[in-house]
Amino acid sequence: MRYLIAALALLFYGATAAAADEPITIKFSHVVAENTPKGKGALKFKELAESRLEGRVEVQVFANAQLYGDNKVLEALLLGDVQLAAPSLSKFKRYTDKLQLFDLPFLFADIDAVDRFQKSAAGRQLLSATTERGLLGLGYWHNGMKQLSANTALRRPADAAGLKFRIQASDVIAAQFQALDATPLKKPFSEVFILLQTKGIDGQENTWSNIYSKKFFEVQDHITESDHGLVDYMVVTSVEFWHGLPDDVRRVLEQCIDEASDYANQVALEKAVGDRAKIQQSGRSEILQLDPAERLLWVDAMKPVWAQFEDEIGADLIAAAMAANAE
Ligand code: SIN
Repeated sequence: MRYLIAALALLFYGATAAAADEPITIKFSHVVAENTPKGKGALKFKELAESRLEGRVEVQVFANAQLYGDNKVLEALLLGDVQLAAPSLSKFKRYTDKLQLFDLPFLFADIDAVDRFQKSAAGRQLLSATTERGLLGLGYWHNGMKQLSANTALRRPADAAGLKFRIQASDVIAAQFQALDATPLKKPFSEVFILLQTKGIDGQENTWSNIYSKKFFEVQDHITESDHGLVDYMVVTSVEFWHGLPDDVRRVLEQCIDEASDYANQVALEKAVGDRAKIQQSGRSEILQLDPAERLLWVDAMKPVWAQFEDEIGADLIAAAMAANAE
């Protein structure tokens, strides 16, 4: 019996020692292509983390929703099936009302204003908006301003009436399209191309990078350069995983996230210009520019939705975001 106990103890010690030597696996799941701001940001994080914590962490990046779509990834984080994700800020409604702020149409004048707000105290505080629900924001990554696309030219808000638009799972975005007398349909990003191709929907809204990398421009005749909203991301982990990491590892990973954020944000700026130009050169989709009077019609049609969500988001937060336009 004594030998048996000694043998079991040895086995147990051997197993824990081996486990202690194993690198920590970090699965990073996202839904866009690799050649996008988020796709490249995730790969930059992997490169930085694995070189600075050699042998201590292994980062596995899963692009194109090959592991989880955005509707499931936050649950997967809480279950410990993945450790990092960067869903669009429009996809957190089940965990907080506050991030709906970023969906208010025509809130930010441009991506520089978004950047200023995200770096402000109010913006940084929002990274903790989901911690009570077990999710921790580690940083923001840009993709860019949203454009409207459809198979008919959308010059005035009335042109969208009666059309079906795919939207992300956001009540604010649903209200925005209802304000145009259009029908919003909440669908996963991975289904947008096929829905457009088969005419299951008439249009959608997205950034130049997503419209280009997922080939939406090949199945949409018109894109209106509306800059009416934003697709940005919160890099998110589970509180349990992050606080369970050894302190020194967590500190290095935080630096890697910060550096990958700067890199992803730079890529976003380049893609917003470069992917727009590629779409224009392709001749597959006409890019419609709005004059100031036309743009104002869209502002007047969409902006009334702010009032519907002011209580849930908070008037102070909306004011703080608007202040970033003035700086
Ligand atoms: C993404 O950029 O991650 C997807 C955005 C969308 O669902 O439209």
